[in-house]
Amino acid sequence: MSDPAKSGRTVRVALLGCGVVGSQVVRLLTENAAELTARVGAPLELVGVAVRHPDRHRELPADLVTGDAAALVAREDVDVVVEVMGGLDPARELLLTALRRGAGVVTANKALLAAHGPEIFTAADAGGPGLYFEAAVAGAIPLIRPIRESLAGDRVSRVMGIVNGTTNFILSAMDSTGSTYEAALAEATRLGYAEADPTADVEGFDAAAKAAIIASLAFHTRVNADDVYREGISGVSAAEIAAAREIGCTVKLLAICERITTPTGEAVSARVHPVMLPRTHPLAGVDGAYNAVYVEAEAAGQLMFYGPGAGGAPTASAVLGDLVTVARNTVVGARGPRESAYAELPNQPLGEVTSQYHISLDVQDRAGVLAQVAQCFADLGISISTVRQAGTGNDATLVIVTHCGPEAALTETVRRLSGMDAVRKVNSVMRVVSE
Ligand code: NDP
Ligand code: HSE
Repeated sequence: MSDPAKSGRTVRVALLGCGVVGSQVVRLLTENAAELTARVGAPLELVGVAVRHPDRHRELPADLVTGDAAALVAREDVDVVVEVMGGLDPARELLLTALRRGAGVVTANKALLAAHGPEIFTAADAGGPGLYFEAAVAGAIPLIRPIRESLAGDRVSRVMGIVNGTTNFILSAMDSTGSTYEAALAEATRLGYAEADPTADVEGFDAAAKAAIIASLAFHTRVNADDVYREGISGVSAAEIAAAREIGCTVKLLAICERITTPTGEAVSARVHPVMLPRTHPLAGVDGAYNAVYVEAEAAGQLMFYGPGAGGAPTASAVLGDLVTVARNTVVGARGPRESAYAELPNQPLGEVTSQYHISLDVQDRAGVLAQVAQCFADLGISISTVRQAGTGNDATLVIVTHCGPEAALTETVRRLSGMDAVRKVNSVMRVVSE
């Protein structure tokens, strides 16, 4: 067997960022150097690590550390740039520089891809060994490659799942231990799951970026973060989690990407919001920082992907997998997959998407109120699945679960309910996923 280390070719790697993920990338590169060399067919050499505060990185060899990321990516001897620094700028310009001079790129930066995907894919498609981003969605779980490559011969109809570890960790803790939202968020941050600004997690921006990437790949259409309807979990109360429990559900933040048949053809819907999910649903048992994603495709049927969705080592595993691939491409002169956006499907407006709602109302407990409330639903063509009344007099609460109806009609129903004399307060409105 030939010895790759003696083949004369070395793949030179520049790392941008050495925080939660980057430090684990360095560890794996160092500890597994011999095996990685054998798998790539050439040694991987880390030639530089760019960080924001070079003086704080005494754990790294001093000659590798730099505060000048722009100079590092511009080096002609760098074959692959691994970006785990996060943020839009300067990451965007750095990756464009690397791609335009023909270097391979591995990134975990979903926010960047969801905001500037077309520009970055165009630069990657112009040449070089490719752009890989398995770590950008669902941490360690192989999901991008299955959608982008393994299912390239099928027609994906729906991708639905839990794609943010931080919010799943928070909702699981609130549900199972009665933890407060604040305490659970602090713990998720301590464990390295949260983004540099955890607003990205709790307000659903991170999951929306991932939904945009998934929908783009699954439906061969450019979908960016602004095309994704987004609601986070900062408004989810302990009372809503208890209300979900009363109807046999748990609350999860879901990303839902669908190919929808419309009267004029097909469209794409991508949305992120909390839902009440029956405890019997396979996604209901996904707890902590774990992620799980269902993919439905015409020929393949239903596939489910499950595993750690955040954290340094799991994410570094996905980064290293991409690094091996792009390094192999570099050694043999191969290219990565090009962007596939030929379908150009339109974005389905949220109002035309159908959902099921759970609505809790404080109402006056007197004859005729239930009939008035039911009429309000009927006026907008929304069918009621179940109604339950708790309490009496000024404490009367109606809990209504609807059948599926168009979002626009459901939203208008809630607006009219909140204006009725008989309704003292709309306590909460949350979507329900029952299948
Ligand atoms: P951290 O905040 O832990 O680390 C960021 C690193 O990038 C730090 O080393 C920082 O330097 C460096 N950095 C930041 N800005 C600059 C800059 N302008 N120039 C040079 N270096 C800079 O982030 P994570 O490791 O958690 O995340 C990195 C990326 O991976 C993000 O895109 C994130 O979305 C993604 N990701 C993270 C996951 C996770 O579980 N943490 C999971 C999946 C993806 P310094 O150390 O000096 O401050
Ligand atoms: N902050 C992200 C999460 C990291 O919690 O899922 C993984 O992408």
